[in-house]
Amino acid sequence: MTSEMTPKKILFVCLGNICRSPAAEGIMRAIVAEKGDEDSWVIDSAGTGRYHIGELPDHRMRIHARRRGLELTHHCRQVTEEDFELFDLIIGMDASNISNLRRIAPSPEAEAKIHAMAEYFSPSARYDYVPDPYYEGAEGFELVLDLLDDGCRNLYNQLAISN
Ligand code: 4NP
Repeated sequence: MTSEMTPKKILFVCLGNICRSPAAEGIMRAIVAEKGDEDSWVIDSAGTGRYHIGELPDHRMRIHARRRGLELTHHCRQVTEEDFELFDLIIGMDASNISNLRRIAPSPEAEAKIHAMAEYFSPSARYDYVPDPYYEGAEGFELVLDLLDDGCRNLYNQLAISN
């Protein structure tokens, strides 16, 4: 039904690319699969840091995601200037990710692709960013998954009707 449309290309970005952004990628892939809409989307994630390049997501995030039926198989990579050409939307998880992305953006057009994940949260959300769970306990990981599930569903609905 949607295969003739231009794919929507979304890159989720956090600091380490082992907790929040691979979870966002996994959730968005699951939503798109649930709608049978895989051909219309390109979904990826990356980090602004380089601490964990090549690694699978943090084992705690993988465990919490698996409990929700999500297998996170992304391998950590760093954001590149080329990402600003390849993707339509570059979505940072918090204010620090956004300011790092602004520094990397090679042009004003590239910078205009940067958005905050919280722009897609429902009005009832208790947060205006996705908090870093790395030094938190289980609740931190569950909170991230709840916020991302809400934001990704709204993002999907917003973009699915705009094309
Ligand atoms: P993320 O979490 O940005 O959600 O992937 C972090 C993962 C690792 C580190 C910081 C945040 N770190 O400092 O290694």
